[in-house]
Amino acid sequence: MDFLIVIFQLLFIIVMGIFVALFSAYMFWAIISGRIFYSPPVIPTSKDARKVMFDLLDKHVPDINKKPYRFIDIGCGYGTLTFHAAKKYPHSKSTGVDFSMIAFLFSKIRCHFFKYKNVDIIYSNYFKLNLSSYDVAFCYLYNLENQRVGQKLLKDLKPGSFVVSNTFPFKDWEPLEVAAYDDVIVKRDVYIYQITKEMKANEPKKAPRKKSAKK
Ligand SMILES: C[S@@+](CC[C@H](N)C(=O)[O-])C[C@H]1O[C@@H](n2cnc3c(N)ncnc32)[C@H](O)[C@@H]1O
Repeated sequence: MDFLIVIFQLLFIIVMGIFVALFSAYMFWAIISGRIFYSPPVIPTSKDARKVMFDLLDKHVPDINKKPYRFIDIGCGYGTLTFHAAKKYPHSKSTGVDFSMIAFLFSKIRCHFFKYKNVDIIYSNYFKLNLSSYDVAFCYLYNLENQRVGQKLLKDLKPGSFVVSNTFPFKDWEPLEVAAYDDVIVKRDVYIYQITKEMKANEPKKAPRKKSAKK
């Protein structure tokens, strides 16, 4: 009996040791990379918003239930939109990108655990990726960030590609449709856009700089 207690104590110490080591390594990396001081919150798209987003896709994207499209979830968080697109359109490929280590690991494990064959999860800042091979982009970001991302999407995406944005519109873009959903106490909107040659021709040549907090 004593022997078993010692084994359990040892196991407990080993597991706690691994946990503390991993947590310390993560904190060290987060502080060194500056990510701990700047990490936007991961807020998943709600079920109601997701339904409206995919209804808009079904309505506007030609043959979406047959053609192999490539989806990119810009800041995928825990993969709410990435995995839903993969399940709903199994003939298509769905990619999620996020620079939050926790969100990335969660989505990566989810991908392996549920054996998704048509999902790719990338750990990166989306501004560093070339998005030109994607046909449909999902965005659920923040207003200022959305405007910066809009310029990146205009630069990278080909004419004919689609962008679906939850809550935040893109300034100066004409949506194909705007649809509302109920979000706890307020109504919010979802916007679907199609990138055109004209939009690309009018694209500003330089993205605006992010506002700095320092004076
Ligand atoms: C509001 S959450 C949306 C999550 C998911 N798209 C959804 O709809 O459920 C925004 C996500 O964008 C990520 N993000 C913000 N800026 C990013 C950047 N520059 N590169 C990669 N991910 C970013 C955040 O880490 C966060 O997980």
